[in-house]
Amino acid sequence: MAKTFKNFINGEWVEPRSGAWFQNRNPANTADIIGRFPDSNAADIEAAVRSARRGFDLWRRTPAPARGDVLRRVGDLLVARKEKIADAMTREMGKVLAETRGDVQEGIDTAYYAATEGRRLFGHVVPSELRQKWAMSYRRPMGVVGLITPFNFPLAIPTWKMFPALLCGNAVVIKPSEDVPHTTHLLVEILLEAGLPPEVIQMVHGRGETAGRALVEHPQVPVISFTGSTATGAVIGETCGRMHKRLSLEMGGKNAMIVMDDADLDLALDGVLWGAFGTTGQRCTATSRLIVHRKVHDRFVRMVAEAAEGLRLGDGRQDKTDVGPLIHEDARKKVERYMGIAEEEGLEIVTGGKRPGGARLGNGFFFRPTVVEGVRPGMRMEQEEIFGPVLSVIRVNSYEDAVKVNNGVAYGLSSSIYTTDVNRAFRAMEDLDNGITYVNAPTIGAEAHLPFGGVKATGNGHREGGWEVYDFYSETKVCYVDYSGTLQRAQIDNYD
Ligand code: UN1
Repeated sequence: MAKTFKNFINGEWVEPRSGAWFQNRNPANTADIIGRFPDSNAADIEAAVRSARRGFDLWRRTPAPARGDVLRRVGDLLVARKEKIADAMTREMGKVLAETRGDVQEGIDTAYYAATEGRRLFGHVVPSELRQKWAMSYRRPMGVVGLITPFNFPLAIPTWKMFPALLCGNAVVIKPSEDVPHTTHLLVEILLEAGLPPEVIQMVHGRGETAGRALVEHPQVPVISFTGSTATGAVIGETCGRMHKRLSLEMGGKNAMIVMDDADLDLALDGVLWGAFGTTGQRCTATSRLIVHRKVHDRFVRMVAEAAEGLRLGDGRQDKTDVGPLIHEDARKKVERYMGIAEEEGLEIVTGGKRPGGARLGNGFFFRPTVVEGVRPGMRMEQEEIFGPVLSVIRVNSYEDAVKVNNGVAYGLSSSIYTTDVNRAFRAMEDLDNGITYVNAPTIGAEAHLPFGGVKATGNGHREGGWEVYDFYSETKVCYVDYSGTLQRAQIDNYD
C-alpha cells in the first residue's frame, strides 16, 4: 500500500476532513507511486485559517531578526538535505537532478536573503514640515497569507513566497500543486525542525478547484500569491478584486530569444537548447520562440535541430539524461494538440513532434524535443503558451522586426538577445517589453536576489524575489510624533 501523507494544521499532521485522497506518481515511471495525499476541501481550509490566525498573533510579535534566525536555520537544513530533496523532487516532478539541485539552491538563496532581511526591513524617517515633529514609516505584517504554488519549481517557488511572507511576520497557509505535494511536505518538515512555531505554517494538500478556491475565497486571508496559468489567475483576480485582497499573480510566458546576424552562434546554440528544453520546456520563462535574423537563419536552425535530435530523453535520476518527462498525460496531450495546430498552420516540424518509441520510455510522459520552422507572427504556435519542449522559429529581416515580434504577444515575462554589438544590446534592454531581458544568455535563469516577474498578461505588477517582494508581504504604517507641546497644523502653520 502506498505511503500516506497528511495535511499540517493546528501544529499537527492530520488526515483531511474531506476523507478523500489522491495518488502522486513518478512521471518518468507511472508504476512508481510516491504516496497518497489529502484531497482536501473547504473544511480543511477553514481549520487551517483558524489555526494560522493564532500563529499570526504570536509570530507578528517575534522580532524580525529572530524570525530571520529561523529562516537561516531553514537554509542550513536545506543545504544539509540538498541531495535528498533533489532526488525526491526529480522522482515526483521529472526534471533532471542537476536542475532539481538548482531548484533547492534557489530555496537556499531565498532563505539566506530572507534571514538577513530580518535585520533590515527598513522603513523611513523623513523630515516633517513642522518643527519638533518626527515623521516615519515602518512595515507591519498583514495576517494570514494564502499561497498557491505550481509543479515546475516544487521547492523554489514555495520558498519565494513563503520565506518573505514569514520574515515579514505573516502566518502562512500553503496549497501546493497536487502534482508535487511531496517536496512541500519535506519543506514543511524543515521549517518545523528549524524552530518555526507550528501554527505559523499550515499546509493543505488538494486541488485548485476545491482547496485552492476555498483559500482564495476565505474572508480572513487578506493576501494571496499565485503562480500558474493565466486563465486561473483571471478567476482568482476577480475574487480578490471583489474581496479587496492583495494579490500577486505570476503567470504565462511566450518568451523569445533573438539571434542577430552578428551573434556567436555556438553560444546561442547552447543557450537555446537550455532555454527551450531545460525542465522539458515547463518553465514560465522557457524559450518557446526563436527569432532569427535571415542572414543566419538556415544555418542556425540546422544547428538547433541537429543538437535537439541528439538530446537524450529519460529518467531524470539517471546520469545520461538530458530531458525528463512532462508532468502528466494531460500536459503531453496538450503538446500533441499543438502539433496538430502546427500542421493546420502549414508549418514544418524540423525535429521531434512526437512521443519517443521503444519500451525504455513507455511508462513515462515523454515527448521529443521539437523544433517548428516557418512560424509567422500572429499564428497560434507563435502566440500561445504550450508549456512543453516545443520551439517555434520565426525568421526576421532586421533588429526592428525582431523587437516587433518579441513584443507582439500577450505575455511579457522574459526575453533574450544574442548579439556582439554593444550598442544594440543596450537598445534591446530598452526596446524589449518584458519584466526580464537577458543579453547573450537564454530566457531562463533568474537569480533569487533580484525581482522576478513580467509585464502584460504575465502578471499584475508585483514581483517575487529580491527586495520588492518584501513590499508585497507587508503593510506600510506611518507615525507622526509631535513633541512641540503646541498644536501645529500641517499645511497651515508652517506657511503663514
Ligand atoms: C518559472 O518558470 O516558473 O528564471 C520560474 C528561471 C528560474 C525560475 C523560473 N530561476 O528560469
